[in-house]
Amino acid sequence: MKRVAILISGSGSNMVALVDSMTGDHPARPVLVLSNVPGAGGLEKAAARGVPTTIVDHKPFGKDREAFEAALQAELERAAPDILCLAGFMRVLTPGFVNRWAGRMLNIHPSLLPKYRGLNTHARALEAEDSEAGCSVHEVTAELDGGPILGQARVPILPGDTAETLAARVLPVEHRLYPAVLRRYAQGDRAPVMLG
Ligand code: GRF
Repeated sequence: MKRVAILISGSGSNMVALVDSMTGDHPARPVLVLSNVPGAGGLEKAAARGVPTTIVDHKPFGKDREAFEAALQAELERAAPDILCLAGFMRVLTPGFVNRWAGRMLNIHPSLLPKYRGLNTHARALEAEDSEAGCSVHEVTAELDGGPILGQARVPILPGDTAETLAARVLPVEHRLYPAVLRRYAQGDRAPVMLG
């Protein structure tokens, strides 16, 4: 059985989708939900599901990313995960941390990578007048939103869409894609999952 730690900063809806998927014959189980934001909504949702939670607030560390990551690493070592899932975790990680978890860390990003790395993905897709949008799950490497793609799901962009309506169309698709990718990844299969 693979042990999975999930890193969040916010409402944790992707975390919930992942946690709820890891039952029955699933090859993995959640062992920790970690937030860098003390009041993150996802913490209560994880606790309500019986998953241990912890907080590593980045703020006291100021600009010292390495010190923050050392605290993160210490919490993770206690939980001894085989796989790390970033799920709306809004901190950029240094190459040192990323390399330590190379081949064991996934992220979900709300665009059809390699398009629109970074922030404000939906506004940028609208600005570019794209006809479709979506989300990607990828392995995390030192290059921001740049690692090998493990899955993608597409949705149409409709007339009158705003960044908000588009985000509301993509999010439920994220909730289908991420669990599908994690299940396959936990079985040692890195073939991409393509939905939609
Ligand atoms: C998702 O859109 C995810 O792709 C992203 O941030 C959002 C997190 O939402 N980068 P949640 O915390 O999983 O609800």
